[in-house]
Amino acid sequence: MPIDEITQKVSDRYARAASTGEQMCCPTSYDMADLQFFIPEEVLKISYGCGAPAGLKTVSPGETVLDIGSGGGIDCFAASRLVGPAGHVIGIDMTDTMLAIARKNAPVVAANLGYASSNVEFRKGMADSIPVNDGTVDLIISNCVINLAPDKRKVFREMFRVAKPGGRFTISDIVADQPVPQYLVHDAEKWGDCLSGALTLTDYITGIVGAGFLGNHLIKASPWQVIDGIHFFSVTLTGYKLPTNRPESDVRYATLRGPFSRVVDELGTTYFRGIPQPITPEGVCLLSQAPLASHFVLSSDPLWLDQADNRWTAVYPEEAPCTWQGHFALLAGPFIEVADDDHHVYHRGEPVEICSKTRHVVETDSYAPHFAIINRADQRVSGEPVTCAPNGSCC
Ligand SMILES: C[S@@+](CC[C@H](N)C(=O)[O-])C[C@H]1O[C@@H](n2cnc3c(N)ncnc32)[C@H](O)[C@@H]1O
Repeated sequence: MPIDEITQKVSDRYARAASTGEQMCCPTSYDMADLQFFIPEEVLKISYGCGAPAGLKTVSPGETVLDIGSGGGIDCFAASRLVGPAGHVIGIDMTDTMLAIARKNAPVVAANLGYASSNVEFRKGMADSIPVNDGTVDLIISNCVINLAPDKRKVFREMFRVAKPGGRFTISDIVADQPVPQYLVHDAEKWGDCLSGALTLTDYITGIVGAGFLGNHLIKASPWQVIDGIHFFSVTLTGYKLPTNRPESDVRYATLRGPFSRVVDELGTTYFRGIPQPITPEGVCLLSQAPLASHFVLSSDPLWLDQADNRWTAVYPEEAPCTWQGHFALLAGPFIEVADDDHHVYHRGEPVEICSKTRHVVETDSYAPHFAIINRADQRVSGEPVTCAPNGSCC
């Protein structure tokens, strides 16, 4: 299907949804009771996102927030309250019917929040050609939109362009566990359902990294639909445009604490647990970001850690039989490759089949934030326990 045709069909679909108020798309986890307090029902009922605007938890008063594909404006209005009257929120959308509802409700929300005037503006525009100046946005949010854009890499480059140095994004979107086949790509109806345009998690994050964002990591993953064996799931991802002005630092080395025995970061540097690795100023900046910082000890001189050190972390699999129940683990960041203490190597976005024993490891607090888990079994599996190899490894 030509790009213009996809875009027109998607826009028609959302224009129709906005005017009828029909239910569409995916589970979200809004606190509706809280939002009803200041956002009109007309906006809430056409909320078509696929995640929670988790990034909004990180918003500070006075910040500028951009929402790509703002629809009826639900996330813009939630952001409006958080940035306060001194902050600024920009929603962009390509569909006039959506923009009309959002614009009509902006003054209502402002009045409900007690603001003298609205701090939210809605601009007509495309996700791959964002009508916003370079380097002006603190936080980019987007809820179930980028899968609908035919050229996602262009969208990611636009996000990087408009983000301030030191800015960040948090987007929720639908991804697939394998490439979507052409017969689904050319199904116009399924474009509007957020399925046809879904990338694999690997391609999605590769696009984000290619645009320049670093420290990309998973906030949340939830199953959405299985069609012809393809698992579609919703992910909420966050990443950073690292600041260009870096504070002076005497940090020269990073030592991996764990729980992984080895990791490769997005700059391509490999770290082995307990062994100091020389790092560049860019590496210092990356490893200081929240999702990576807890994994490392940064130091000015080489620092070795051993198992007796309470900074060393590891999760060993239990010595028990394991069963295969159809589970696969997908590493989602902030590393491009990790190894655990049971011979598994995970590459970002690539499903690795895991047995019950490994699933327990991957679901522990220190592993869980890095993985999406899916089950590819068609039916309930009552797998026979398997005796593991003498070294304890079985999968
Ligand atoms: C699934 S809805 C999500 C709306 C909103 N984010 C929410 O959570 O309710 C998708 C929205 O993105 C808009 N959209 C889709 N593709 C777009 C594109 N390439 N550029 C700009 N807007 C787009 C649609 O018009 C629609 O309003």
